[in-house]
Amino acid sequence: MAKVNDNYLKLPGSYLFSTIGKKVSAFQGANPDKQIIRLGIGDVTQPLAPAIIEAMHSAVDEMGQADTFRGYAPDLGYDFLRNAIVENDYKARGCDIAADEIFVSDGAKCDSSNIQEIFSLDNKIAVCDPVYPVYVDSNVMAGRTGTYDAKSETWSDVIYMPCLADNNFAPELPKETPDLIYLCFPNNPTGSTITKAQLQEWVDYANKVGSVIIYDAAYEAYISESDVPHTIYECEGAKTCAIELKSFSKNAGFTGVRLGYTVIPKELKCNGTALNPLWARRHGTKYNGVPYIVQRAGEAVYSGAGKEQLAKQVAYYMNNAKTIKEGLASAGYTVSGGVNAPYIWLKTPDNMTSWEFFDFLLEKANVVGTPGSGFGPSGEGYFRLTAFGTYENTLAAIERIKAL
Ligand SMILES: Cc1ncc(COP(=O)(O)O)c(C=O)c1O
Repeated sequence: MAKVNDNYLKLPGSYLFSTIGKKVSAFQGANPDKQIIRLGIGDVTQPLAPAIIEAMHSAVDEMGQADTFRGYAPDLGYDFLRNAIVENDYKARGCDIAADEIFVSDGAKCDSSNIQEIFSLDNKIAVCDPVYPVYVDSNVMAGRTGTYDAKSETWSDVIYMPCLADNNFAPELPKETPDLIYLCFPNNPTGSTITKAQLQEWVDYANKVGSVIIYDAAYEAYISESDVPHTIYECEGAKTCAIELKSFSKNAGFTGVRLGYTVIPKELKCNGTALNPLWARRHGTKYNGVPYIVQRAGEAVYSGAGKEQLAKQVAYYMNNAKTIKEGLASAGYTVSGGVNAPYIWLKTPDNMTSWEFFDFLLEKANVVGTPGSGFGPSGEGYFRLTAFGTYENTLAAIERIKAL
């Protein structure tokens, strides 16, 4: 008789954004005349930049001609894209990463959840708390997290690193030694970052204790301060302890196009086994490559016109971030983030729980945000707003919140 993977049955509730979606649909159903503004899920709203559309059109035309038609893409990505990544995201920043250390994929969500597959089930993971839920849930599905305690909302075999106002939302080195450390900077959900010197401490620590850092740099394009690293490989020694995940979703609006990549340096070894060939084997077996049209779109992100157009897009969202942050601060809210990331993290007023504030905002201002507790127990009492809406909606949402 077929049996299910019991680990799935251990997952508490549904994926955070499904719960939010259901609540919002129920509210809209009961109040069809209300104009809801969604600043909850981190999805972009600006259309693809012209340079990207142009590249996609011409790739589509190539697909319609026998002599330029392409079938299966190379498992690990076309050279034109991997080389553009190397030149622009690494060499330009003084980081020595080679094209065969880049694995092109359909995004950082899949990569961040799939990467744990190449590690033994014995590994103990450490995560920031609050955290992007995919890191923990994918390890639950694999059976690596032990048992769930509904009261504390924690897993017995996960090391939680609280990120609170007291530590500037930056994790401290854990007391118990982890095997795999998930770090994400600029951070979702808190919008915080750490400096290069702080990240260097993590790299030194990981090299010392033999941990692997899985570094999610999905929001790198939003960095505005000079001491914040754009890639973990800016830190000395990172090539022997870190895997980096990147996404084209937030810097180029590819949430619906789907493109990302993972970097695994050849020097990175676990107990003498190099991880780069393991991931190449996994990618080659389970993944059939990103479509040619999408990889050409990704290449256009690095063209002169692409860079210029996307810098404007990022600036547009960051202007929203400023509008949210300043608007809420002037209304007396305690806010952080929004300087190097498109997320604003606010303390809920009057000791409301995160979900109480979610309901309050939905009902009274018809604004949707994300309850901080959905990202982990240390997110309780906090709330996340995204800067990815349109400027008009962002402004209207903040005016409504200020009027409460
Ligand atoms: C930290 C983090 N990593 C990864 C992703 C997903 O990226 P992608 O769209 O490339 O799958 C998100 C999306 O919100 C995210 O916040």
